[in-house]
Amino acid sequence: MEPWPYRTIIEPFRIKAVEPIPFLHPNERRAALSRAGHNLFKLKAQEVTIDLLTDSGTGSMSASQWAALMEGDESYAGSTSWQELEAVVHRITGFPHVLPVHQGRAAERIMSRTVIPPGAVVLNNTHFDTTRANVEQAGGVAVDLPVAEALRPEVVAPFKGDMDLAALDQALEEHGDKVALVMLTLTNNAAGGQPVSMANIEAVSARCKQAGVPFFLDAARFAENAWFIHVREPGYDTWSVADIARRMFDLSDGCTMSAKKDGIVNIGGLLCTRLDGWAEKFRNELILGEGFTSYGGLAGRDLSAMAVGLTEALDPDYLRYRQRSIAYFAKGLQQVGVPVVQPAGGHAVFIDAGALAPHIPPAQLPGQAVACALYLEGGIRSVEIGSLMFPGSRLELVRLAVPRRVYTQSHVDYVIEIAESLAKRAPSLRGYRIVKEPPFLRHFSAELAPL
Ligand code: F0G
Repeated sequence: MEPWPYRTIIEPFRIKAVEPIPFLHPNERRAALSRAGHNLFKLKAQEVTIDLLTDSGTGSMSASQWAALMEGDESYAGSTSWQELEAVVHRITGFPHVLPVHQGRAAERIMSRTVIPPGAVVLNNTHFDTTRANVEQAGGVAVDLPVAEALRPEVVAPFKGDMDLAALDQALEEHGDKVALVMLTLTNNAAGGQPVSMANIEAVSARCKQAGVPFFLDAARFAENAWFIHVREPGYDTWSVADIARRMFDLSDGCTMSAKKDGIVNIGGLLCTRLDGWAEKFRNELILGEGFTSYGGLAGRDLSAMAVGLTEALDPDYLRYRQRSIAYFAKGLQQVGVPVVQPAGGHAVFIDAGALAPHIPPAQLPGQAVACALYLEGGIRSVEIGSLMFPGSRLELVRLAVPRRVYTQSHVDYVIEIAESLAKRAPSLRGYRIVKEPPFLRHFSAELAPL
């Protein structure tokens, strides 16, 4: 890999197809937000200027991926697209059993319904919301074991995504045979997109082996996690990112993966394992709900695009740009007085809304107040990760997730400028109350009103 001695981070691509973005009058934004019940999930895409709601399924595909789409083989069984994908996933992960699914939560659902009996315990550094919901839907108990610094946004540490090993030992002892599975979410999305160190993966793997408990990775952002290990963990600067990723997978028994992140596709996912018995159960459940084992709810062309995307995600030039451009975004926000979770995550910048608007109590949803204000001020769509998404949450964050290869530095500069003007009038922001909410995953559809 070539070193990059320059100050300016350039996008490691040039643009072949462009898409216009909408610009609205402030009055139009006010009307749109009100119609959406002050829930940014309910905005129409054409009402959003810069969409940082998620990095999931929102990336730009490369010319090679578009070419692969054309070559997609739509045979029901044994398509060449499937063979390509299976070969790529074997090479990257080493897992003998590879099952395609339509997205990450389908893998979580298959796993929860087959190997998480009612009353079973699943331990994770931090469950993503769909993972938790699927475990709980199966009657399982989802327990989060993040390290203490994960809950302190101002602390700068290289691997705040790690699992708390003492807490893991205690949980394994306390729950004994009831522990059906231990997972590590790479990177730890719900805890600020922070990476997990190889040392932590090794330690968790060793404890699981000793306890006889299967150990899976939530590998949605496996390439970003591998990059952080490459640049931050002593001894790994001489390893290729692909070798680091392979070692992460080698330490585990399997993975769920939303390929909508580091697979750089708009739809797709994987469920992989080296456990023959579990693979058999997964396959049967897959056929019941997702489709045959060589397409898993996807078109052949989707499998082809995923095969190319997974390979591109491990390109060091791309990963360096990805990490450094997000660090640039976080630093820019900080410089204009917007407190952000430290250090910058792998896929997103998290505004510490609790620190930006300390006058708004958690019950009045400070994160939602900041997210709505960012939209009203500049048409920026973000997502609250605080008391609205997770009632009782200890942090009030607003996530600005960065789609892969979509926005350029000037888009980021614009967001920083909008956030600067918002920070200046932060003391005048008002909270929100919930008018209507569903029984679970309430943030997707709740209706809110400003206080
Ligand atoms: N695991 C992690 C760590 C995730 O971030 C997500 C999705 C999933 C699993 C579920 O995957 O959406 O393909 O079903 N995260 C998106 C986000 C939605 O915005 O962070 P999916």
